[in-house]
Amino acid sequence: MSERVNVAVIGAGRIGRLHAGHLAHRIRGARLAAVTDIRLEASRQCAADLGVSKVFEDYRRVLDDAQVQAVVICSSTDTHASIIKDAAQAGKQIFCEKPIALDLKQIDQALAAVTAAGVKLQVGFNRRFDPNFRRIRELVREGAIGEPHLLRIASRDPEPPPMEYVRVSGGIFLDMMIHDFDMARYVVGDEVQELYALGGVRIDPEIGRAGDVDTAVVTLRFAGGCFGTIDNSRQAVYGYDQRVEVFGSKGMVTTENNTPNRTRLATDAAVREDLPLRFFMERYTESYLNEMNAFIQCIREDKDPPVTGADARVPVVMGKAARLSCEQNRPVALSEVS
Ligand SMILES: NC(=O)c1ccc[n+]([C@@H]2O[C@H](COP(=O)([O-])OP(=O)(O)OC[C@H]3O[C@@H](n4cnc5c(N)ncnc54)[C@H](O)[C@@H]3O)[C@@H](O)[C@H]2O)c1
Repeated sequence: MSERVNVAVIGAGRIGRLHAGHLAHRIRGARLAAVTDIRLEASRQCAADLGVSKVFEDYRRVLDDAQVQAVVICSSTDTHASIIKDAAQAGKQIFCEKPIALDLKQIDQALAAVTAAGVKLQVGFNRRFDPNFRRIRELVREGAIGEPHLLRIASRDPEPPPMEYVRVSGGIFLDMMIHDFDMARYVVGDEVQELYALGGVRIDPEIGRAGDVDTAVVTLRFAGGCFGTIDNSRQAVYGYDQRVEVFGSKGMVTTENNTPNRTRLATDAAVREDLPLRFFMERYTESYLNEMNAFIQCIREDKDPPVTGADARVPVVMGKAARLSCEQNRPVALSEVS
């Protein structure tokens, strides 16, 4: 296919504006054709900034538009499953932000609609497209560290999200750690069978009153014998902390945080470097570009997307298992939840 793929963005909030900007200017083979948001003002502003003329309040308008080939769903999580079903029935290719839903039945119904329509679906687990994490996966796959024995993921936000967000987020395991559950499967290249979660409120009592925790550790048991730990905090005072390590029979592979520059100052007092990039918009820019390039390329070359429906479902199962484990203070097999 040589002509550009016409894409509509549904939901012009934080991540929708980011993807819209990339589609308008930085993704080869794509054209941003329309923007929709139930807050018409948000879609108008986004479209005006990017020189797009088609702006709608109701996403169904882009599903009726024969010129639109693909949709990028960036609306709030509770809308994803039904928009996927409608878009699939309309024959559109679909990119959907994570997670598809917090409810497994809704996920399964959305995936069934995609299969029935024979359209593509790629889910926004962008960290798979980060060059550091991708390199770890490749090295593990090539056998560079031998048999994986231990995985360690540290994933800490610089500050908690607003309370309105916390209340509808589905909790730390489904909102925040879901990316790390995906990363665990991705870098080790194996499935988790069982996990055990500890969670507590160490930062903001208001988060506890909303029924959530702000600090959590999860241990993982993989089918092939590897063990893993993931830790999350909603507040790392030094910035966005994103590190991964896989240790195996022949060695170890690890990544450090990305900083705004590579300088290191050494004096007789200390060795100093800059703080990590502040948050996900800055830290993961390249991964957002790479994932959208991959999606558009799959449409143009009629290939299967690199993040599948199964990839979308399993981290939600893990998030639910972690919540149950934390509530009941016991190890939980994923089979109990799935
Ligand atoms: N992959 C990532 O790194 C990443 C980062 C942030 C958010 N997300 C995901 O993206 C989604 C959006 O998050 P956000 O932070 O941009 O939220 P947001 O609240 O900033 O934006 C959501 C937008 O969707 C609009 N909307 C709601 N229902 C709609 C509908 N039916 N049709 C059209 N528009 C609708 C809202 O008006 C709002 O403008 C969430 O599912 C979130 O989990 C993913």
